[in-house]
Amino acid sequence: MCGIVGYIGDKIATPMLIEGLKRLEYRGYDSAGVAIMNGNGVETRRAAGKIARLESAIASNPPHGTLGIAHTRWATHGPPNEQNAHPHVSQNGKIAVVHNGIIENATSLKAGLEARGYVFKSDTDTEVLSHLIETAYAGNLEAAVIEALRQVDGTYGIAVISSDEKDKIVAARKGSPLLVGIGDGEYFVASDASAILAHTRQVVYLDDGDIAVVTRDGYHVLDLDSVIREKPVTRIDWDLAQIERGGYPHFMLKEIFEQPTTVENTMRGRLILEEGFSKLGGLNISKEDLLAVDNIIITACGTSWHSALIGEMMIEELCRIPVEVEYASEFRYRNPIVTPRTLCIVISQSGETADTLAAMREAKRRGARTLGLVNQVGSTIAREDDGGIYLHAGPEIGVASTKAFTSQVVALALFTLKLARLRDLSVARGRAIAQAMAKLPEQIQSILDRAEEIEQLAEEFKRATNFLYLGRGYNFPAALEGALKLKEISYIHAEGYPAAEMKHGPIALIDEMMPVVCIAPHDAVFDKITSNIQEVKARKGKVIAITTRDEPSLAGKIDYEFRIPETEDLLTPILASVPLQLLAYYIAVKRGCNVDQPRNLAKSVTVE
Ligand code: G6P
Repeated sequence: MCGIVGYIGDKIATPMLIEGLKRLEYRGYDSAGVAIMNGNGVETRRAAGKIARLESAIASNPPHGTLGIAHTRWATHGPPNEQNAHPHVSQNGKIAVVHNGIIENATSLKAGLEARGYVFKSDTDTEVLSHLIETAYAGNLEAAVIEALRQVDGTYGIAVISSDEKDKIVAARKGSPLLVGIGDGEYFVASDASAILAHTRQVVYLDDGDIAVVTRDGYHVLDLDSVIREKPVTRIDWDLAQIERGGYPHFMLKEIFEQPTTVENTMRGRLILEEGFSKLGGLNISKEDLLAVDNIIITACGTSWHSALIGEMMIEELCRIPVEVEYASEFRYRNPIVTPRTLCIVISQSGETADTLAAMREAKRRGARTLGLVNQVGSTIAREDDGGIYLHAGPEIGVASTKAFTSQVVALALFTLKLARLRDLSVARGRAIAQAMAKLPEQIQSILDRAEEIEQLAEEFKRATNFLYLGRGYNFPAALEGALKLKEISYIHAEGYPAAEMKHGPIALIDEMMPVVCIAPHDAVFDKITSNIQEVKARKGKVIAITTRDEPSLAGKIDYEFRIPETEDLLTPILASVPLQLLAYYIAVKRGCNVDQPRNLAKSVTVE
């Protein structure tokens, strides 16, 4: 979603802010702006489009000062043009605000402000905030911000500056991530640590209701009653190289190729081969409580929801506990059955997705125990869950999730192994699964070594207008994920379907123009999917099959084949996903699409 960065120190602020915005650009990218304290007051520059547009717009005459705030926007209210870009300035021109989130009562607040003579220059909800802070201002910026926020319903991460207090940034958070970075004689405000990692690794994560007051001499954090809150300083443990492309043309390709390592990192120190067991230090739940769990709800959005579906099948098959998978956005607004013996597993790469966070809070409120599978260390979900399994996949920058997905499935397998072995899974079966998991990094590498085959396939299909992805059992979610990857980045319409269910609708679409990706490893449902492939072929569909061995029963039924290594059934979606990620990637590149920043999407969706 949108990104915020603020700077106060002894360096010229504009280049620092532009650099920070570029690192946040992957989160939202339709317009951008900066506000700098230039000696006289607040000077604002904004531009529609990517950060590079803003950078060139100000290159000849950049605003000059050592304090400023900046924003990259993902439009919610009003089109992505210059006038809707942040920062938004108050009527008297003295107060500038950048904002992530949504002010839900903006319409009524706007009417009230207009009645008092305020004239709105944008379509945004944010402009309400800048005027409200102006009306509340009586010589102290944090007091005015607190007063304005009292009137606001909705979510926000904001940074505010005022010409009347030239050495201060006030930041506040409710529902939208924000942190303070502590540098050497300088301070930062950012919605994401990657914006400031080039300058410091020391950060203070703000919680909902926190107001940070940052000056040249230090910072302090208040609550909405102006009472000081003590906050721990956290050290970020990843480095700049991890958020750079490292020679790859796109982050997405880099992240696909990192998977042997990231999958290994998810398992590191956790897999106990001999015992067919796993050690998960962060679960924060006793063996007794874990055994007392009588149902599991897994909730997530997007790609994380697909890994949840795989988790459901794993847990039900091996642990024999009923599992329900819920879109977080649906779960939070219905009346789900949750008991104190419910375990709610929350899956989120970013740990900040608004619906997923709200679903977790709702599950907690109803008495469930929560377990977060999160990649982003220190994110809100990771801080609020009762226990968790960090993915350790490193920062994922490409908007289309790849390495986080495979690590999520691995983390779910680790959890399943633990719970199943605590219940009644035999050591022999546990050991077989653990050994198969240990082989995954090398097997993924063997697929990546043949990326060129997929690139050729992409050449064949780059002009397709529709795609169908079919899978059964563990690979039905892999089909959904394959289709999602393709549509996200290439804008080709693609649908994932359980292979047999295709007969109840999508089969009507099949003709010689329709590529159909069939995930057909030699698993428990192989014979079944063979029949479905036959049905596609009978309608002249172009079959692209992902298989694991030479299958005489497929002879003459498939047009293109890509082999993946054999593994345990429950792990096949991990291997099957890799060629599908590559297929989406290469098709998108060949169509000239912006792979890392596809249109309309955002990496982390912090509004509902
Ligand atoms: C956005 C991203 C997806 C991601 C989804 C859930 O839509 O573009 O790649 O799967 O959010 O994100 P999360 O961070 O909660 O896994």
